Amino acid sequence: MKRIRVDYNYVMDKYIAGGLSEEQLEEYKEKAKLGLSRLLRMYDNGDAGFIGLPSQSTAPLKKFAKEINGKFNDLIVVGIGGSSLGVETVCNAMLPFGYNARSFAERGCFPRVWVADNVDPSKINSILSECQPEDTFVCIITKSGSTVETAANFGVIYEWLTTKVKNPKKQICAITDPEKGSLRAMANDKGFVSFDVQPNVGGRFSVLSPVGLVPAAILGLDIDKLLQGAMSANKDGYEQILTLSAIYMYFMDKGKNINVMMPYSSRLISFADWFCQLWGESLGKSKTKNGQHISFGTTPVRATGTIDQHSQVQLYKEGPNDKVFTFIEVLNHDKDKKIVSPYEAYDYLNGHTLGKLCNIELMGTEAALKTADRPSVKISLDIVDEYTIGALFMLWQYIVPVIGLAYDIDPFDQPGVEEGKDYAYSMLGRKGYDSTKDILTEIYKK
Ligand code: PA5
Repeated sequence: MKRIRVDYNYVMDKYIAGGLSEEQLEEYKEKAKLGLSRLLRMYDNGDAGFIGLPSQSTAPLKKFAKEINGKFNDLIVVGIGGSSLGVETVCNAMLPFGYNARSFAERGCFPRVWVADNVDPSKINSILSECQPEDTFVCIITKSGSTVETAANFGVIYEWLTTKVKNPKKQICAITDPEKGSLRAMANDKGFVSFDVQPNVGGRFSVLSPVGLVPAAILGLDIDKLLQGAMSANKDGYEQILTLSAIYMYFMDKGKNINVMMPYSSRLISFADWFCQLWGESLGKSKTKNGQHISFGTTPVRATGTIDQHSQVQLYKEGPNDKVFTFIEVLNHDKDKKIVSPYEAYDYLNGHTLGKLCNIELMGTEAALKTADRPSVKISLDIVDEYTIGALFMLWQYIVPVIGLAYDIDPFDQPGVEEGKDYAYSMLGRKGYDSTKDILTEIYKK
C-alpha cells in the first residue's frame, strides 16, 4: 500500500479554467514516459546512480554509527548544497523541535547536531562556542572535495579541534568521491574514516547515499526505513512520477513560471528547501533549439502552511496567475494536541486538534486558490517518518530529471554554479584559475 497519495483534481479543467483535459494529461504523460525512458537508459549505462541507492548495503554505515554511539555530545556536519540540505531535511523531519536543548540522556545518548554550511562567521562561531573539541564528532561532506565553503569551514573547525585533541582523526569522517578530489586526498593522507559517494551520484541527488545516511545513522535514525520508503516511489509502475511530471510540464508550457512547494508542517520546511535546490539547479538551464537560444526552467519557491497564509497567500490568490502549487498534507500529525477554547469567543475550536486545524487550513487555501483558477496538487503523507521522507525524496529525484530529459535538458549538470565558483577561486588566488582573472577585470571595469 502506498503511504503517499496524490490528489490532482485541481489541475484538471473539470475544476479550474486553464487546467488539463484528460486527453492533455495523457498526452503529457507520453512526454513524461519519454523522459523516464531516457533516465532509465542512463541508469542502465551507469549514470543517474541515485536510482540504485535504495538497494545499497547499510551494514557498514550502521556499524560505524554504533561504534561512535554514546561517545560524543555533538555532531558537526560540514557541507553545503547537496551535501547539507538532505541532512537538514532528515533532521528537521525526524528530530523533535528543540532536540539540541535536550540532555544527553533525553536524546538517547545521540549527539546534538549542527550544520556548518554557510561561511558566516557568526554561525560558525556560535556552533563552536556550543561544543567542546573533545566531545565533538565532525562529518565533512563534499562530493567534489573542492567546494570552497566546506574547505574553509572545515579548516576553522579542524584548527579548533586540534587545539585540544591530540588524535583528531578519531573524531572525523569524510564523505566524498572514492578516488578524486582534495578531500579524498586529505582523508587518505590523514587517515580519516571515509565513506564513498559514487561518481555517478550527483550532489543534489545524493541524500540517500552516505551523504545523508551517515549523519542520520549517527543520530540514531532508521536509515533502512528511509531506503525502503525510497524504494516504494516507483512501485506503482511509475504512475505517480509520470502523472506529476506531466502536470508540471503542462503548466511550464502554459507559462506558469513559478513552482510553489508548500508543506503544511513545520517538520517539512527543510524538505521544501531541498526541493528548491533540486528543481532550480537541475532545470534552470539554457539550451539552443533550431539555432535559437532558449532559457529553460521555472522558479521554485518555498512556502510553509499555515505560516505563509499570513504572508504569501494573498499574492497567490490575487497576484499574477503564473504559479503552480504543491501542497504537502500530513494526515496524522505526530503528538497531535486537542484544542481547548480559552474563551467563549473561541468555542468553535473545541473538539478540534492542532493537526486537524492545520489540515483544514490547507483545504481552505486549496479552495481559495481553486476559486481563482490557480492549479494545485496535494501530496498526502500518512505520517512523517523515515519511510515517507525517503519516498518523497525519491519521488522528486525521479520527477525532476524526467522533466529535464523530456525537454532535452541535462538535469545533472550546473554550469552556472561552476562559473561563479571559478570566479571566486580566481579572486582567492587558487592555482589554475588565472585565465578567469581577465574576464573578471572586464566585468568589474568601471
Ligand atoms: O548538486 C550539486 O552538485 C551542487 O549543488 C553541490 O551539491 C554543491 O555545490 C556542493 O558540492 P560538493 O558536495 O561537491 O561540496
